[in-house]
Amino acid sequence: MLLELKQNGSELSGTFKSPGFSLPVNGTAQGTHVTLFVAKHPDRPFLQADLVNGNLQGMRGRHTFNATPAGPNDDLPTVAYIAPPAIQPVPWNGLAKTPPMGWNSWNLFADKVDDATVRTMADAMVSSGMRDAGYVYINIDDTWEGVRDAQGNIQSNHKFPDMKALADYVHSKGLKLGIYSSPGPRTCAGYPGSYGHEEQDAKTLAAWGIDYLKYDWCSASTVYQEKDLQAVYQKMGAALRATGRPIVFSLCEYGLGNVGSWGPQVSGNLWRTTGDIRDAWSSMIGNIEEQVPTAQYAGPGHWNDPDMLEIGNGHMTDDEYRTHMSLWALTAAPLLAGNDLRSMSEATKSILMNHEVLAVDQDTLGKQASPVKNGTMETWVKPLADGGVAVGVVNLGGAAATATIAQTDLPLHGTVKKARNLWTHADVKFANGSYSAEIPSHATLLLKVSTR
Ligand code: GLA
Repeated sequence: MLLELKQNGSELSGTFKSPGFSLPVNGTAQGTHVTLFVAKHPDRPFLQADLVNGNLQGMRGRHTFNATPAGPNDDLPTVAYIAPPAIQPVPWNGLAKTPPMGWNSWNLFADKVDDATVRTMADAMVSSGMRDAGYVYINIDDTWEGVRDAQGNIQSNHKFPDMKALADYVHSKGLKLGIYSSPGPRTCAGYPGSYGHEEQDAKTLAAWGIDYLKYDWCSASTVYQEKDLQAVYQKMGAALRATGRPIVFSLCEYGLGNVGSWGPQVSGNLWRTTGDIRDAWSSMIGNIEEQVPTAQYAGPGHWNDPDMLEIGNGHMTDDEYRTHMSLWALTAAPLLAGNDLRSMSEATKSILMNHEVLAVDQDTLGKQASPVKNGTMETWVKPLADGGVAVGVVNLGGAAATATIAQTDLPLHGTVKKARNLWTHADVKFANGSYSAEIPSHATLLLKVSTR
């Protein structure tokens, strides 16, 4: 990581270079305390740190941050430029007919993930009932990568002594194993990426028995431009296809380059529409709002991804986590749990494994709901394959308020025959063409309504 800062009085400006992407930052220095922001999130500190004995120590999001004064070797490795391929659509791999469901290591463990942890998480996926609820992918995020051997084959590092054996173990539980890489020379956490080794890495992953690849732009931004995104992702999409193994292809490019318009052509099954989620109401709501303009691009085989779930990680209320789940289901978002499956509270289990809500997410029509705002209430309507609709009313305000759902606001023909509250599992009645209920602050009323 490299942080280049200029100080002008208490004002700071500069660039944060993770050995991955490069971000302009601005902020303040008050005494020895430094707070930095990125332009996209002026209300949320990107980094907070203190100058201690010449080192900058603090937190970047939930990660500890420790920077020593720059030395000559701290910058990115120099790599030879490899021109991206000509655009040539890669056929759909036939996967992800409904949004992928599973677990990913990043939100909870970041760089602390290892083989033993992944095995216990696979065990818990089964014993908790998560697998049977539909969560099948166990995804290892960044920091598994070791050095390349003399032939250039990527090897896992000491935390993952035998990736093939781990995949066999995960498969023996009726689960699938996912992994992570970058089209750049380095991943976001600074480990080797697949740059210049795309075909070779795809073959290695297939030989290990990998079922899912999250491919994170990161340091590709130091080699390529935004206009190259499609070609760069196509290279790995084609390489995965050439292996003959069904591997879900997850594009992680933070919503850059209108990804939905070309994602299916690189055989992408899901693509990020936002920056990284944090376990905070403002972050979760911010991500889902950013997902709104992408609705037209969601459909069977390819999904908009507002990032992984934070449900159960402890910094939102259960009402807020139910809203998180409701919104991800209404927008047909991939459901990748990011919590500790080994120690889930009953509330967390009931949120992640609410079968009626999961059915909304997994609906085969694959429509992404769009919101209509009315004061502090936001109503999201998702047409379903059986002709009914899922409707969610989110109370974004700070106090409880009454919401009314009018039948005339729903894309339904005929009169409402059945309406069901998917969180309380109780049928409710539409009287005179509408239904009203009080919604606590930050909670969501989620109904399935049908005329049959
Ligand atoms: C980026 C991604 C995250 C995670 C980290 C890993 O920030 O957006 O989801 O994969 O990299 O370094």
